[in-house]
Amino acid sequence: MEDILQVKISELMGELLGQFKIFIMVNKNKLLNEKKSFPLSCLATYSASIAKILDGNVDIILVGDSLGSTLYGFNNTQKVTMNMMKEHGQAVIKNIKKSISVIDMPFKTYETKYQSLKNAKILLKYTKAEFIKLEIDISKVDIIKHLSKNKINVIAHIGVTPQSFSDFKKIKILGKNNSEIQKLLILAKKLELSGAKAVLLECVTAKSAKIITSSLSIPTIGIGASKYCDGQILVFDDLINLRSTKHKARFVKNYLNFDKLSRAAVKKFAKDVKKNKYPSKKYSYQ
Ligand code: KIV
Repeated sequence: MEDILQVKISELMGELLGQFKIFIMVNKNKLLNEKKSFPLSCLATYSASIAKILDGNVDIILVGDSLGSTLYGFNNTQKVTMNMMKEHGQAVIKNIKKSISVIDMPFKTYETKYQSLKNAKILLKYTKAEFIKLEIDISKVDIIKHLSKNKINVIAHIGVTPQSFSDFKKIKILGKNNSEIQKLLILAKKLELSGAKAVLLECVTAKSAKIITSSLSIPTIGIGASKYCDGQILVFDDLINLRSTKHKARFVKNYLNFDKLSRAAVKKFAKDVKKNKYPSKKYSYQ
């Protein structure tokens, strides 16, 4: 009798938990389907420990392929592989309980409809991310259509698309004249029609962001794209001033100087070791 009761209780708990999960999902999808009156906050990260800090404190967490340059110190993001995204993605997303999770598809892994669907499924299955982000130009709109038709939640990254640059110094802001703005707008509209759930705008002028955001019914998320977006994204390492290169983009705001703080901590540690102060009794097993 007790056993039956226990089974019943756990069945009921399971059902309730399942319903709670569905409720959360519906609301999360709503967040991207409907324009909110407040801007979405988004950060990119690559590790479990940082994911724990971000979860619930920002609306969206992206496992960005910027890990190539930020974490691995490559000159660009072109050397990032599926395996890197899979492992970092899993480490991060395992620790996301409240925020929406998004993962980047790496360079040259979505060249054709067949390849993009195959790789998107692999990444989503392995990492359990809710959305996938692809860097898109006009030649790749059909890929977004194909993925969306196959029920993949896609975010299209347009404007400056870092995967197209082997040298980041060559990156230029887009949307400086009417013809560039029109091109961006046409692309964004096509992506919305193709089923993209959001458009990420990177390094475009405020004027173009304003026009695109007001023309779309899906949210725009900006990085270096002014306040005229429905959301803002930064790389977490930039937020805390943890940089592997000297270059700092104009849009980066440091909310913490981790570089300065950690240098001081490292110096203190090294000094303590030299003076035989560390480890003291407190930090030793007796
Ligand atoms: O890879 C990345 O981190 C990005 C940025 C937009 C944050 O795509």
